[in-house]
Amino acid sequence: MAGRHRLLLENAQQLVLVCGRGEEYLLRDGAAGLPVLRDASVVVGLDGRIKAVGQADVIRDQFSGATFEKVIDCSGKCVLPGLVDAHTHPVWAGDRVHEFAMKLAGASYMEIHQAGGGIHFTVEHTRKATEEELFNTFQHRLERMRRAGSTLVECKSGYGLNLETELKMLRVIERAKQSVDIGISSTYCGAHSVPKGKTATEATDDIINNHLPKLKELQLSGEIHVNNIDVFCEKGVFDLESTRRILQAGKDIGLQINFHGDELHPMKSAELGAELGARAISHLEEVSDEGITAMARAKCAAVLLPTTAYMLRLKQPQARKMLEEGVIVALGSDFNPNAYCFSMPMVMHLACVNMKMSMNEALVAATINAAYALGKSDTHGSIEAGKQGDLIIINSSRWEHLIYQFGGHEALINYVIVKGKVV
Ligand code: NIG
Ligand code: FE
Repeated sequence: MAGRHRLLLENAQQLVLVCGRGEEYLLRDGAAGLPVLRDASVVVGLDGRIKAVGQADVIRDQFSGATFEKVIDCSGKCVLPGLVDAHTHPVWAGDRVHEFAMKLAGASYMEIHQAGGGIHFTVEHTRKATEEELFNTFQHRLERMRRAGSTLVECKSGYGLNLETELKMLRVIERAKQSVDIGISSTYCGAHSVPKGKTATEATDDIINNHLPKLKELQLSGEIHVNNIDVFCEKGVFDLESTRRILQAGKDIGLQINFHGDELHPMKSAELGAELGARAISHLEEVSDEGITAMARAKCAAVLLPTTAYMLRLKQPQARKMLEEGVIVALGSDFNPNAYCFSMPMVMHLACVNMKMSMNEALVAATINAAYALGKSDTHGSIEAGKQGDLIIINSSRWEHLIYQFGGHEALINYVIVKGKVV
């Protein structure tokens, strides 16, 4: 195959495809392990998509006479798919380092929330911030996520709660979609908390009658492109009935359902999500056995968030039971002012140690399954011809170092590549 191409990564000691054998990888990493090629190469075309992947000598023959904009010798290194972060809250002003101290002194997440702190604190600061200020910090955060290996990130609104600020956040996310070299799946999360001065029913009505119609109008005019709808379904926040009404209304305007459920209390969120055809549900520390079965049957992904369970010292979600029952398990950093972590390698490490996932399972959960949770597993999450050329190169001869080492990933990850471009 002569001609000009964007990128050649050659002679990788290990090239971890993740997928390539079909659907079973979405569900669970079997005993057979992950497909890993040794002494392998991958080519990305000028369109940013993977053109070929295989043994180095085969690729060399296949592309003899071809030219490349960039060639990277990966001898002694490993190539993996770009990581996918399936859950983040990255647009906000006003950090909560003072609350970290309160939590260490024994205050619970909900005690702080009910006393007017937590999400309310961040809402107050985010409402006051200009679009420019929010964009600048958001861009910087995206760069830090990318530096830690993430090439596709879900990004939520949800620190406005009123229409004006929710739209401000969504516009900021939209701008980053156009200007930052990273994949973004955006989520309207106007039901992240009940705004001060409103009841949950009033907030639900406001979202359904005012927020979503406006969102639909902006989607149709092409001003913003939101992918998912989210609700914090929790005792003292949005109950099951309000959650159902909001999610259904979001689905009716074409959004994928992807919401927070069964985190601090058992709410039957999983059962509701399965019934409504949710693409994914996050947290699930308190999910019921019936909820797990329903999610497996409905192919609704479980987005587990090890940073939050760790930070808030929650009961760990039952990752093993979910995997055994055939739930599609994905991972997210849940980056937010409560859980200040940008790093999916750290998240995988926590998932292995605290949730008893294997390293193979964690990598699958942070790539192809996370892409599935965002409805993007046909284009992202594995190294296969035709998929987007999102890759990372690590300076180690065994890929597991990405999980085994915790902290300091900037030194381990040599290159992050989005659509075949080193970023
Ligand atoms: O996923 N649980 C609700 N939302 C976030 C926390 C947001 C915040 O505390 O600012 C979460 O952990
Ligand atoms: Fe969250």
